[in-house]
Amino acid sequence: MPPFDQPVARLRHVRVELGAHRALDEVDLDVHAGRLVAVVGANGSGKSTLVAVLAGFRAPTSGTAELRAGTAVALVAQHTADSARLPLTVTDLVTMGRWRERGAFRPLRRSDRARVAEAIDAVGLTPLAARPLGALSGGQRQRAFVAQALAQEADLLLLDEPTSGLDDASRRAAASALRVAAARGAAVVVVTHDLAELDGVDEVVTLASGRVLARRPESVMRGRSLENVSSVEG
Ligand SMILES: Nc1ncnc2c1ncn2[C@@H]1O[C@H](COP(=O)(O)OP(=O)(O)O)[C@@H](O)[C@H]1O
Ligand SMILES: [Mg+2]
Repeated sequence: MPPFDQPVARLRHVRVELGAHRALDEVDLDVHAGRLVAVVGANGSGKSTLVAVLAGFRAPTSGTAELRAGTAVALVAQHTADSARLPLTVTDLVTMGRWRERGAFRPLRRSDRARVAEAIDAVGLTPLAARPLGALSGGQRQRAFVAQALAQEADLLLLDEPTSGLDDASRRAAASALRVAAARGAAVVVVTHDLAELDGVDEVVTLASGRVLARRPESVMRGRSLENVSSVEG
């Protein structure tokens, strides 16, 4: 068993330069199993860059980004471009989330099918499970991608604004699915502008111009608007 306090992901003094632009600077972050961490901040503050570093897509220019050995990562990227044109049903898409465990094109086991059904249910799409993605609303499609990530049962679940543009019911369904994933032991990092999603998070990290401006446990956040939180010094 790994040491109790060993984080799934650990960033230290992370700086990322994109051309002449410093997208992240001096970012320290520990993400622990079973915790739900929200990342908030204005447009351009470095949220997606932070997700890319945690996912391993972007190496820091300086500083260190470490994942615990053997960590499986699932990612819901910001804006799933052209996803409407994928010739897949909701069930097909979510089933792809099992490929890491099962291997692509191998027959699924009963337990895989149960995981897929459970993930679809967690985001409230069971009645639409057989629908092609192209026949869903944008918000429903976005929830299908969240379900695909849930079905992976990854150790580290990264979601970049998974609920932007969704209606109220969809946002609540997606947010509660993330809380369940964390309760089952995943380390979950979600970029959000959405206060409903902040309900029940363990930590809120506020970025401003690539730096961590504030870090708050959720209890401190309750009842505050994002604007207030962003102006609190860390
Ligand atoms: N390839 C790039 N070259 C230069 N600047 C970039 C590049 N990609 C992103 N940026 C800039 O880096 C900043 C952080 O971007 P991003 O992490 O996407 O912010 P957020 O997700 O918080 O909106 C933004 O100001 C953006 O314009
Ligand atoms: Mg972004």
